[in-house]
Amino acid sequence: MRQFKEGFLWGGATAANQFEGGWNEGGKGLSTADVTRFKPDVDVQDMQKQWEITSKDIEEAMKTTDTTYYPKRHGSDFYHHYKEDIALMAEMGFKVFRMSIAWSRIFPRGDESEPNEEGLKFYDQVFDELLKYDIQPLVTMSHYEPPLAFVMEYNGWYSRKSIDFFVRYVETICRRYKDKVKYWLTFNEIDSVIRHPFMTGGLIEDHFESHEAFEQAIYQSMHHQFVASALATKLCHEIIPDSKVGCMLTKLTFYPYSCKPEDVLKAQQDMRATLAFADVQVFGEYPAYLKALYQSKNISIKKELGDDEIIKSYPVDFISFSYYSSSCSAVDTTGLEVAEGNTAAAIKNPYLKSSPWGWQIDPTGLRISMVDLYDRYRLPLFIVENGLGTSDKVEEDGSIQDDYRIHYMAEHIKTMYDAVTIDGVDLMGYTCWGCIDLVSNSSNQMSKRYGMVYVDCDDYGNGSYKRTRKKSFRWYQDVIASNGGSVLNEE
Ligand code: BG6
Repeated sequence: MRQFKEGFLWGGATAANQFEGGWNEGGKGLSTADVTRFKPDVDVQDMQKQWEITSKDIEEAMKTTDTTYYPKRHGSDFYHHYKEDIALMAEMGFKVFRMSIAWSRIFPRGDESEPNEEGLKFYDQVFDELLKYDIQPLVTMSHYEPPLAFVMEYNGWYSRKSIDFFVRYVETICRRYKDKVKYWLTFNEIDSVIRHPFMTGGLIEDHFESHEAFEQAIYQSMHHQFVASALATKLCHEIIPDSKVGCMLTKLTFYPYSCKPEDVLKAQQDMRATLAFADVQVFGEYPAYLKALYQSKNISIKKELGDDEIIKSYPVDFISFSYYSSSCSAVDTTGLEVAEGNTAAAIKNPYLKSSPWGWQIDPTGLRISMVDLYDRYRLPLFIVENGLGTSDKVEEDGSIQDDYRIHYMAEHIKTMYDAVTIDGVDLMGYTCWGCIDLVSNSSNQMSKRYGMVYVDCDDYGNGSYKRTRKKSFRWYQDVIASNGGSVLNEE
């Protein structure tokens, strides 16, 4: 009987900025997510256009209480549904629930010296509810939601002050939740500041005098996040000695489009371009090739005395990552089709099918990714995001027959098992993304659904927010109850 090891952490994942809602309640301040606009006229596959934002756009957003075009303000309204949602997770048998704390719920502007007690109480209630069902919280400290005042007044993570503000926030949440939360992630997809500087880093291009200065700010911000992440790891270990702290990486897996050595090299380089950022958090230093890249781009990082030592002294305990799809790399791209992927576009693989949003579906790529990461870091892995984002149809009888999602997840779980049993990868757990439907990060759509629970809400926020179990709900319940056996042993 094939199954995962005892204690394997099955569950689901969300982030406050896309799931929680309650954007102007309980003393919460605005965050970057609250001013991110749904753009129905922009192609959902053109992520760069979806993410484009100017100071003017933000000022307009700040003047309105509209939630129709600012869907991350309502998310799935976990803020008011958390008891019901956690009961559903318990019914599925979750061992772990990945969520994030909205920094601006704890420090509404980001720079205060005292936290917002009402915000702290909210997460107390959420963690208590989870623990009531023996579900371990896995908490991301920062998932695309820097407080907006910190962004507008300090230029977000570009400011050196960001480290102090973040450390104060981390110390507050670690002290407060020390008996409730043992699994932590510092920054979601730390590499993503390159692709969406506003959401992750709180950087607005028109605040900088030139595109070059903006690019410089992106890498400088990333340096501040590295120092902050190391200090967060240190604090977490000191305050919660039995805690485990992970980094979180976007696993972008590239295949050479052909076996031409130049294409193979290009794929290796593309892959390194994201692995570089996990390297810093695991090995505690900038890899030589990242330094070379900075040099070639004329990027010079301002470091303070002690930064290198901090980064060196407090590496993470495990590697968590998101994996949705893979893509190809080629030196000569003439005539080749482009495919979308998790936050980046690349060359389409002719051997793979795509989701309606253009993300290529590649279960084998998950195994390849796991082997890559484990061979490189030799630390336990945790798959904290994986899933199929697509639209669901509610049948006349109210049911949702999402066999496509079941198929996607089953195929990924199978290759994940092979990575563990054949390739020897140490895997802590699996939390599928958006276990209860939530707002898409890239397109701000509700209709790009990942969940096993349907939320009655459309792209404009209309709906009852009623929760309905999809077909995949029972399927996942069986997967967890059999520790993967129901998928791994099926004929
Ligand atoms: C990951 C992010 O990159 O991908 C999530 O951590 C995001 O926040 C997920 O939601 C899926 O992307 P999307 O654009 O389909 O929501």
